[in-house]
Parts: sequence; structure tokens; C-alpha cells
Amino acid sequence: MEKKLLRLTVNAEYHELYIKPKKLLVEVLRDELGLTGTKRGCNTGACCACSVLLNGMTVKSCSVLAMQVEGFEVTTVEGLANVEKLSPLQLSFLDHGAYQCGFCTSGMLISATSLLSENPKPTAEEIKESIHGNICRCTGYNSIIRAIKAVAGGKYKEDKQ
Ligand code: FES
Ligand code: FES
Repeated sequence: MEKKLLRLTVNAEYHELYIKPKKLLVEVLRDELGLTGTKRGCNTGACCACSVLLNGMTVKSCSVLAMQVEGFEVTTVEGLANVEKLSPLQLSFLDHGAYQCGFCTSGMLISATSLLSENPKPTAEEIKESIHGNICRCTGYNSIIRAIKAVAGGKYKEDKQ
């Protein structure tokens, strides 16, 4: 199948790629751009391990054709921080042991980032609702909810990192 030109910005970096039109966004992120922080779990839209921000909105990158995001801005977990400075959520996840195998973690961080950008002081119920589609087989969710709550409570501020 003939490849098509795709232009998009990922983690503030502009890209022009020639891809097969049926490529999924998760495939382009992982296989073409090497951004393997975005995980490919169920591949059916059921686990949210592949979540990314698309113009600030959370989407499952296994459920979107890459060509559909032409001209969009994509943020993956790699774009939430850099190697010298983790985001408040990432620090809080570390401190609260909010991960075990880590497979769900990038999707959790994306969902939590989206939540806190829209609602900086969510209740525990709102936190649970925001990650209700993110499947974690390891943690039981409580440590993840505590980690998000700690950031919402102001414990992890950008200038304290
Ligand atoms: S891999 Fe996309 S929702 Fe599970
Ligand atoms: S830490 Fe293993 S799936 Fe969540």
C-alpha cells in the first residue's frame, strides 16, 4: 500500500513521516518514533495502557489511525518530563510505590495529567473516575489514587523538584 505523508508534533517536536495509511498511532509512536513509553496492551481499546494526550485530550492510541492526527499535537509519557526533572505526578508515583510491573503506568500518568489540568483539586471519587478505564493488574489502585491525591493536595510542586 502506498505510503502517505503524516505531519504531527510529538512532545513539542515536529515530525514529517511517510507511513502506511492503516498504521495506528501507537505503532507510529513506538515503531517509527521510538517512544516506547506508550504501551500496547489489549490493542482493543479496553486497557488504556496506550493512552496519550491529543491536543490535550486523553485518547487511546491503539484506537486511532495515525493519519487521523495529521496536524495534531501529541504528548506521550516521555513528554511529561525530562531525564533531569520528573513531573510532580511522576515523583509522587515513585514516592507512593504506585507501580509494580509498570505496564499501566504511562497510561495512568497520562490520565492523571489530563485530570489535574482540568481539575487541580479532584476528590477521591473524581480521581477514581478519571482512571476507571486504566487497567492495573498489580497495585490494587490504592497507591495510584494516593499518589494523584498527594499532587492535588499540593505536596509536589514544580518548584520543589
Ligand atoms: S492497548 Fe490501547 S486500550 Fe489497551
Ligand atoms: S503496575 Fe503492573 S499493571 Fe499496573
